[in-house]
Amino acid sequence: MQATKDEASPGTEVISVEHVSLDYHKEKEPLPVLVDVSLSGKRDELVAVTGPSGCGKSTLLRIVAGLIKPTSGAVRVMGSEVKGPREDISIVFQNFVLLPWRTALENVLFGMSSRKDLTDDKKMTKAMAALENAGLSGFENVYPGELSGGMKQRVGVARALATEPRLMLLDEPFSSLDDLTAERLRKEIHSILINPQTSVQSVILISHNVEEIIELADKVVVLSSRPAHVAGEIRVDLPRPRNKKSEEFFQWVDKVYALLS
Ligand SMILES: Nc1ncnc2c1ncn2[C@@H]1O[C@H](COP(=O)(O)OP(=O)(O)OP(=O)(O)O)[C@@H](O)[C@H]1O
Ligand SMILES: [Mg+2]
Repeated sequence: MQATKDEASPGTEVISVEHVSLDYHKEKEPLPVLVDVSLSGKRDELVAVTGPSGCGKSTLLRIVAGLIKPTSGAVRVMGSEVKGPREDISIVFQNFVLLPWRTALENVLFGMSSRKDLTDDKKMTKAMAALENAGLSGFENVYPGELSGGMKQRVGVARALATEPRLMLLDEPFSSLDDLTAERLRKEIHSILINPQTSVQSVILISHNVEEIIELADKVVVLSSRPAHVAGEIRVDLPRPRNKKSEEFFQWVDKVYALLS
């Protein structure tokens, strides 16, 4: 069934990560990366996950996307267990790359190539709407080489939006952008989440930029160094739009830093 915003009433739990542990294997020895990690995200919530470099954040996101099976524990989206990649979950990878020989539109369509249930016309309509929602109207026929870094990232976001996911997973999507572009794209991500026209009901954002987190997140989950467990969880009770220069804002930033250290 196609995801719509209205299928989940406000307060519905969209995503739950339940006691997830993961061991990689290095020279046949288990390398524990995640230990008993639990978190959840409700409708319209943006959950930020942060933690030291190499602690296992990208691994956690891949598990949520169904790309890696946890050693133990489970992930559920709208109550159903994630057992592999699913159409209602989209991920924008940390080192996201576009196909350089395809236009912005073709890159978005490429992300929908597995959708056998859609006609080409339907795919086109959805791809165009996703590009518009990612702020790329007018750039459909431009090749990646002619797009700025921020625009390339937006194509990545559009590709993730085009499949109309319930859950959008973003792995450090702003880290390689200049401040102004990153700021613009941050605002867009939040409006995509609360926009009734999009299917996205919840977002998990990986970031190590604490100010970015306080600007965007409803909830912050702080992971410890590897093997990562949840060091703490903070609900950010700051009204929006958030004033990044206010004293209150920095008090929240400090709370996250306190958990990270
Ligand atoms: N496929 C793999 N096989 C074995 N070990 C891996 C694999 N992928 C990642 N690792 C190891 O698992 C740990 C966690 O990696 P991961 O990429 O999840 O961390 P991260 O928190 O996203 O790091 P960063 O902040 O640098 O992006 C690291 O020690 C990494 O070397
Ligand atoms: Mg990572």
